[in-house]
Amino acid sequence: MADPLLSISGLEAGYGEIRVLWGVDLTVGKGEIVCLVGSNGAGKTTLLRAISGLVKADKGSIVIDGGEIAGGGPEVALSSGIAHVPEGRRLFRTMSVKDNLLMGAYLRVGEDKAVAADLDRVMTMFPRLAERRNQDAATLSGGEQQMCAIGRGIMSRPKLLMIDELSLGLAPTAVDMLSDSLKEINATGISILLVEQDVMSALDLASRGYVLDRGRITMSGTSAELAAAPEVREAYMGVA
Ligand SMILES: Nc1ncnc2c1ncn2[C@@H]1O[C@H](COP(=O)(O)OP(=O)(O)OP(=O)(O)O)[C@@H](O)[C@H]1O
Ligand SMILES: [Mg+2]
Repeated sequence: MADPLLSISGLEAGYGEIRVLWGVDLTVGKGEIVCLVGSNGAGKTTLLRAISGLVKADKGSIVIDGGEIAGGGPEVALSSGIAHVPEGRRLFRTMSVKDNLLMGAYLRVGEDKAVAADLDRVMTMFPRLAERRNQDAATLSGGEQQMCAIGRGIMSRPKLLMIDELSLGLAPTAVDMLSDSLKEINATGISILLVEQDVMSALDLASRGYVLDRGRITMSGTSAELAAAPEVREAYMGVA
């Protein structure tokens, strides 16, 4: 594996008295695409929320690029280079596509020129967003909303882009298009942590992966290793 960008060790987190994550260890190397798979309620979203400081880490460590961010909260995570594309995309529905994208750059005060250049780059990467730049986000199709949410993530100039449920509710053609965009984004040097229901497409995109089961990492390996593992095939692909 490449040098680590994100190193999580012994992470425990949850909601009040309810513990969801029990000693999670996970690493994303610089330049890697890593996927996280697991059944409903396994704690995938909670893990991403803990990394981005939205859920408090009760124990353990979250180090990004050498700096500890556990306990720092959302602004520390964002300014440390973490962008989070949330489950359900969470766009501002009555704001334009362009303004939604600019929300991703809200911490980049005094960088107007660079932000404008990045906005152009996102519009070039997603021509359908460029065509719809002044429309309300609510008018976008599901695939376009996911493009906008990913674009908003890139606007913070992250080192790590985390995406929760890339393909949920989207047509296969839209998923293919988004997968190509993620490869393009990754080729610019941004590492990606992908949470995905569709295990096949996740393993296709990622070079390594982790399986989360009831708040614990139960398996990890290269995508080829996981795709061949009987436990993964039975539990998540419906084949023996
Ligand atoms: N805000 C919350 N308050 C209390 N419990 C929560 C909250 N959000 C999630 N949980 C619980 O935490 C556990 C893990 O949920 P989480 O959403 O992280 O799972 P997930 O792997 O993302 O599932 P899915 O595949 O359905 O998205 C579940 O038991 C869930 O009920
Ligand atoms: Mg989830």
